[in-house]
Formats: sequence, C-alpha cells, structure tokens
Amino acid sequence: MCGMQPGTGWALAGMLAGGRGSGTGAGPAPYGRTADMGLYSERIFPWLLDKALGHPRIEARRKALVSQASGEVLEIGFGSGATLPFYDPAKVTKLTVVEPSEGMNRRAAARLAASPVRVESVPGAGERLPFADASFDTVVTCLTLCSVSDPDAVMAEIRRVLRPGGKFLFLEHVRSEDAGRARWQVRLNPLQKVIGVGCNLDRDSAATVRKAGFSLPPLAQEVEPAFGAMAPLTPLIAGAAER
Ligand SMILES: C[S@@+](CC[C@H](N)C(=O)[O-])C[C@H]1O[C@@H](n2cnc3c(N)ncnc32)[C@H](O)[C@@H]1O
Repeated sequence: MCGMQPGTGWALAGMLAGGRGSGTGAGPAPYGRTADMGLYSERIFPWLLDKALGHPRIEARRKALVSQASGEVLEIGFGSGATLPFYDPAKVTKLTVVEPSEGMNRRAAARLAASPVRVESVPGAGERLPFADASFDTVVTCLTLCSVSDPDAVMAEIRRVLRPGGKFLFLEHVRSEDAGRARWQVRLNPLQKVIGVGCNLDRDSAATVRKAGFSLPPLAQEVEPAFGAMAPLTPLIAGAAER
C-alpha cells in the first residue's frame, strides 16, 4: 500500500500533511507531485514508506516480481529503491529507474551505491518517459500505478518503450472486487491521497493495463496481512503482461 500500516502514524501523518500533497494547489504541478509539497512528502513520507513497506512479506512479493525481469529493464516509481536488492544480475544487463520525488531519490542513494546490477537513475515521471520507442525488454511498476497522476498516460508510455515481446511486470494494490470494501475505498480515498502523497485506494489498475492494449488473464486479488487493518482496503494484484 502506498500509505502506511495502522500504527505507523496515520493521525500524525495527516496532521503533518496539513492538506498538502492532495493535488489541490493553485497552479499546474508537474506529474506525480504538487508544487506545494515539502517537509512531509519529501522527508517524512519517504522514511515512513520505507518503514511501512519494509515488512518481510512485502519484500518477498517484491522479490517474486523483479526476479522475473531480464535484459534492459525500466522501473517506474522507484521510490527509495526497495526492489533493487532483488534484481538478478545474471539476467539484467542494465536497470534504468525513474522517480520524480527528490526525497525518494535521496533515500535511494545508499541502495543505488550497493546495487547488484548496473543502474541509471533518471529523474522524471512515468507520463513522459525520456526514452526512445522499444528501448526496454522489461518494464516494472511496484505499488506505483496507485500514485501516478495519469495512469492511462503511464501505461501508454510503458507500451511505447517496451520492445515487441517485452514484459510489463507489476505488483499493485487496487479497487476491491468486494462492493462493500470498494465503497469504503472511495470514501477514504481523499484522506489516503493526503496521507499517501497522491496514493489512490480505488484504482482498477488491471483494467488500465488491459485498456492500454495488454492482454491479461483474470487476476486474483490477494489481501496482504502485512498491511494490518488496512489490508481489506488494499488488495494486491500481480502480473506479467507481454507487449
Ligand atoms: C508507494 S511508492 C512505491 C515505491 C516503490 N516502488 C516501492 O515499492 O517501495 C509510489 C512511488 O511512485 C512515485 N510516483 C508518483 N507519481 C509518479 C509518476 N507520475 N511517475 C513515476 N513515479 C511516480 C512516488 O514518488 C513513489 O516513489
């Protein structure tokens, strides 16, 4: 989940956010960030996210995801680099990572320095990737489609930069298939967007992937106990879609 585990500071985070980071700033903001983000989004949230998503069960899911990556790989929404230790240097020739948040990039620096694979970090956003068509064998998103400003634009970019036969690997939390839970996701979404710095609880990301032209089998939603009391509102899907 993009937010945090119960007990990790929902109330504190909400107070610190103070309404910032919800996309309500006056002028246009760059993709993925609002212009008025500061202490919370760039300092506190990256730290909280590392704590909240550092659970061994989440680590195992990240490992299962990125160990499928091969060739020239792009990860979008790299965050603090939590997937990095799990890329297989025997299969990945080069990893390029895109992350718009300076605070996340700062936190990723130590992991980048210890990377098992050759890696290039490119500041930017998934909606406008600075890469030529058909540049990558694998594109990865891990708990990121919930947070991007324009998921359709990101998916179009993913399809554009993937080589024919290339793979899109994803692990995402999504809108629940249970109608009652989905209603709660919609109700709590405005709060989640503040606390989770743009994270949405109610996105149907499998539909977004399909809409971009990828074919996917039906995907089972899994409730992840590591998310604690928020688990019913953050069911996970994982998949590999071929270009
Ligand atoms: C919940 S975090 C996940 C980080 C990391 N993938 C992980 O598994 O820990 C979502 C990430 O998406 C990034 N993000 C937000 N908007 C984005 C955009 N438009 N393009 C790319 N990344 C974006 C955020 O800055 C954040 O680092």
